[in-house]
Amino acid sequence: MATDLRVSLTDRCNLRCTYCMPPEGLEWLPKPELLTDDELLRLVRIGVTRLGITEVRFTGGEPLLRRGLPGLIAGTTELRPRPQTALTTNGIGLARMAPALAEAGLDRVNVSLDTLRPDVFETLARRRRLDDVLDGMAGAADAGLTPVKVNTVLMRGVNDAEAADLLRFCVERGYELRFIEQMPLDAQHGWRRDTMITAEEILASLEAEFTLDAADSETRGSAPAELFHVRGARFPNGEQATVGVIGSVTRPFCGACDRVRLTADGQVRNCLFAREESDLRALLRGGATDEEIARSWTAAVATKLPGHGINDPSFLQPSRPMSAIGG
Ligand code: GTP
Ligand code: 5AD
Ligand code: SF4
Repeated sequence: MATDLRVSLTDRCNLRCTYCMPPEGLEWLPKPELLTDDELLRLVRIGVTRLGITEVRFTGGEPLLRRGLPGLIAGTTELRPRPQTALTTNGIGLARMAPALAEAGLDRVNVSLDTLRPDVFETLARRRRLDDVLDGMAGAADAGLTPVKVNTVLMRGVNDAEAADLLRFCVERGYELRFIEQMPLDAQHGWRRDTMITAEEILASLEAEFTLDAADSETRGSAPAELFHVRGARFPNGEQATVGVIGSVTRPFCGACDRVRLTADGQVRNCLFAREESDLRALLRGGATDEEIARSWTAAVATKLPGHGINDPSFLQPSRPMSAIGG
């Protein structure tokens, strides 16, 4: 059952990560096509009260660029049964926003951080904002948006030598680091299997400096990350330190998937790699009832394929890039 709703609030972003977007950015969705806050909250309410959604994650593009974010979070946490709420962000502006987000009821954040080196950050994200990101992570932790999880995409010859440094940095601060295999979801269609850093390579590079013990797989559930205990390492709160690997390509976890996605322009996607979408915005704006919207949403989820197909010879990248779907 799809119980985890991931809502993209905007397709815009203030970074230009090379694995996601071209330097000039993309053609952003025109404002009238975006769901309004009221439309968005209506869909979230339908998901929570009629369709069994228990967790709502706000994503982008960069969701902190959406003006009404605290109100959207508050509107979501007012629902009963109250869903868990989370935010996936690049961290820019998070230091300033974190207290208001926590106040609105946000439970936790995942922040993208690919490097600790300002020059590498500029090469990778094409902006000089590393300090803003680091401040954002600290601000989130201070505001109680925990556990702070960190997402790192390793790129060959760019930041792949930093895996151990990133892990030390995160362990010292109590952040749960996860390394992600790059997926074919970039707008430029530049993904190549042979340059992707695999889960196996990530683990080998970490194991040169740490001893990792696989965590109990029973507790993984539908989580994308395979978790490892870092032997002998503790977070500042005394808990056993962990690191995760999200091997979407070489170790797919589609079988346990419980996600459904809503794009900023009101389309339901039953998979990151879905080739079809269901237009809830047209229903909303055409005067459909909650019941009709719920039926269309359920039908969209029912046509979900068993896997993403990246490893099939006939794989075709979806036309919508990651930045317009949300992670
Ligand atoms: P939590 O662990 O519960 O915090 O959630 P999460 O890991 O799903 O959240 P996040 O938005 O931080 O996603 C992290 C990464 O997991 C994304 O960047 C993707 O690379 C990957 N991911 C998330 N959802 C999916 C999915 O449905 N399919 C695949 N293949 N990868 C996903
Ligand atoms: N493959 C894997 N992860 C990606 N992200 C962005 N593009 C890709 C990709 N092509 C990650 C970001 C962020 C999350 C939302 O998705 O680093 O952490
Ligand atoms: Fe599920 Fe699709 Fe993600 Fe696989 S790629 S885990 S099927 S949403």
